[in-house]
Amino acid sequence: MIYLDHAATSWPKPPKVIAAMTDFLERIGGNPGRAGHRLSIEAGRIIYKTREALAELFNAGDPLRVVFTSNATHAINLALHGLLKPGDHVITSGIEHNAVMRPLRFLEQNGVRVSVVPCDGEGIPDPQNFARAVEKSTRLIVIKHACNVTGTMLPVAEISAVARRAGAFLLVDAAQSAGAVPVDMRMMGIDLLAFAGHKGLQGPPGTGGLVIGERVRAEDMTPLTRGGTGSRSESEYQPEDLPDKFESGTLNGAGIAGLGAGVDFVLERGIEAIHAHETALAKMLAEGLGNIPGVRLYGSNDWKRRSAVVSFTSEKYQTSEIGFRLDEEFGILCRVGLHCAPAAHRTIGSFPRGTIRFAPGPQTTAGEIAAAVAAVARILK
Ligand SMILES: Cc1ncc(COP(=O)(O)O)c(C=O)c1O
Repeated sequence: MIYLDHAATSWPKPPKVIAAMTDFLERIGGNPGRAGHRLSIEAGRIIYKTREALAELFNAGDPLRVVFTSNATHAINLALHGLLKPGDHVITSGIEHNAVMRPLRFLEQNGVRVSVVPCDGEGIPDPQNFARAVEKSTRLIVIKHACNVTGTMLPVAEISAVARRAGAFLLVDAAQSAGAVPVDMRMMGIDLLAFAGHKGLQGPPGTGGLVIGERVRAEDMTPLTRGGTGSRSESEYQPEDLPDKFESGTLNGAGIAGLGAGVDFVLERGIEAIHAHETALAKMLAEGLGNIPGVRLYGSNDWKRRSAVVSFTSEKYQTSEIGFRLDEEFGILCRVGLHCAPAAHRTIGSFPRGTIRFAPGPQTTAGEIAAAVAAVARILK
């Protein structure tokens, strides 16, 4: 079996991730922050270590600004619902995932104004168009870092400069880039960073988070849920401290232990090295597929602006048929269709059929890429 669906979730997980989760369940298992006994303290220590590793990876500063959620969608919802009120204006791009567009469309029905800046055929927006869309009430700009359909990376730093000039915050959906592409919150001017733990960061399903940058105060945001935090238990009001304000209820301790080991894996191997490895494989894929008659590739040819995602279509066959045959006949696993991002497919011209998407990971080999290209060539012959 050849697994080329790392953009959906990474698999197999590094052995140290599984070991950390097993260790948490077998040996630790206490409820962090809820008691003074040794198992509770040990669970809290492991969770704090994961916050520290993530703060280091993203150059975020204070580890207490890392808020754990169950996935990137949850983190994006926390940021959008937490910051935006009726009368506020928000700007986004024309290639966003439904994890951004659906909460935004919901908020729009409830008094938030939404402007969408279109992108060119490769999925790149012009930062000047964000500047043109700014209004007095613009509170937030939200963009993805790397596109889950084309791999195109957006000009985050330029768009951040627009947000700063407008007195607005910048929320970046790093679901595809966290653990796969260098992300430096301070250098890139990111105020809020939503990440998935289960993709490039190699953690288990059910993990993700929102990093709240230093420009955003806890008081600027309302939580999605309120409840027990293990802190300030004398009060019936939600505490304002980070991360407790946004982390009510028992955390996914085993998952966060696994995520911590996943981040260690990324830090040990080096984010630059992972990015270089995956991009070289994606380039190889694009070159191989591009030589097959009838294949159309999507996204930029500038590999400095790409993450390791390659989307293509065939003139002759449906995307679903190609995906099915890759799995059934060749044991090659990929994702076909709209990838929860209809706006991106409308932009690149592949709506409504979608594309076939290959996404290699840190363990993928050049031999596996060659086998995938050969399988597509056989199917399309
Ligand atoms: C760009 C982008 N944003 C958000 C998400 C949602 O991530 P999660 O499944 O962790 O909620 C995805 C997942 O594929 C994605 O690719």
